[in-house]
Amino acid sequence: MSDVPELVWHDLECGSYRADLALWSELAREHGDPILDVGAGSGRVALHLARAGHQVIALDRDRQLLDALSERANGFSVRTVCADARSFALPERQPALCLAPMQTIQLLGGSAQRTEFLRRAHAHLKPGGLLACAIVTDLQSYDCTSGPAPRPDIARADDLLYVSYPISVRVLRERIVIERDRLVIKADEELSDDALASRSPLRRTHSTIELDRLSPRQLEREACAVGFRPEPLRRIAMTEDHVGSEVVMLRA
Ligand SMILES: C[S@@+](CC[C@H](N)C(=O)[O-])C[C@H]1O[C@@H](n2cnc3c(N)ncnc32)[C@H](O)[C@@H]1O
Repeated sequence: MSDVPELVWHDLECGSYRADLALWSELAREHGDPILDVGAGSGRVALHLARAGHQVIALDRDRQLLDALSERANGFSVRTVCADARSFALPERQPALCLAPMQTIQLLGGSAQRTEFLRRAHAHLKPGGLLACAIVTDLQSYDCTSGPAPRPDIARADDLLYVSYPISVRVLRERIVIERDRLVIKADEELSDDALASRSPLRRTHSTIELDRLSPRQLEREACAVGFRPEPLRRIAMTEDHVGSEVVMLRA
C-alpha cells in the first residue's frame, strides 16, 4: 500500500487530547485577539479557539498539516503561516497571546534553538502579552517488552484500522526519546486487543520523537534572558491516556 499521510498519524496521536483546551480558552478570553498558536499542527487548539470566536494565527513548519487545518476551519478565523518557530516573522498586528501547546517547545532542538524561538515570540507579542508553553517534566521510562504498554491510539477509515502503539519511552540526560509502531491493519469487524495484536499489518512503520528535557525553571531562566517576566505556573492534570503538563507563563 502507498505511504500513509503524516496527517493521519498526527490526528491519531494528538487529536484526541482535550485536557488542555479549558486553559487555552481561559487565556484567550483574558488576553483577546489575535492569538498565535505555535506548532499548530492540524489545528486541535487553533480550531477550538477559532470556533469560540477568536482570531487565530496558526504557525507550523508542516504545510500538509496546515492545509488540513485551513480546510477544517470552514469559515472560522484562522490564518495559517508555514514557518519555523525559531525564525518566523509575521507582518500583522501583534498578538496578545502566544501559545505553545503539547510540548512543542521541547521539539526545537535544545537551549540555543529554544532561545531563538523565545526571541521571536518576544519580538512579536504586544507589550504585556503572554507566552504560555506546556511542557512535560515527569515522564517515566518504560519499554513495552518488559512491562504493560499504554493503550494504542486507534482510528478507523472504511475497512482499515490505523493503530499507533507506544513502544518505549527513554528518559536520557538531555532528551526523552519516545518510540511508536504505526500499523495499518485490514479489519472489517471490531477486534479485541488480542485479535488486533495477532493480525499481520498491511504496513508497519516506526516513529521516533525526541523531546528536550526541560524544567520550568530552566525555561523561565532562558525566557528572562530575552526579556520575559515569569508568572506563576499553571498545571494541566494527567488523564487516563495522557501525562500531565506544567504550563510556563511568560509575560512580555
Ligand atoms: C506535538 S505537535 C502539537 C500539535 C498541536 N499544537 C496540538 O497541540 O495538537 C507539535 C507540532 O509542532 C510542529 N513543529 C515542530 N517543530 C517546529 C518548528 N521548529 N517550527 C514550527 N513548528 C514546529 C510540528 O509540525 C507539530 O505540528
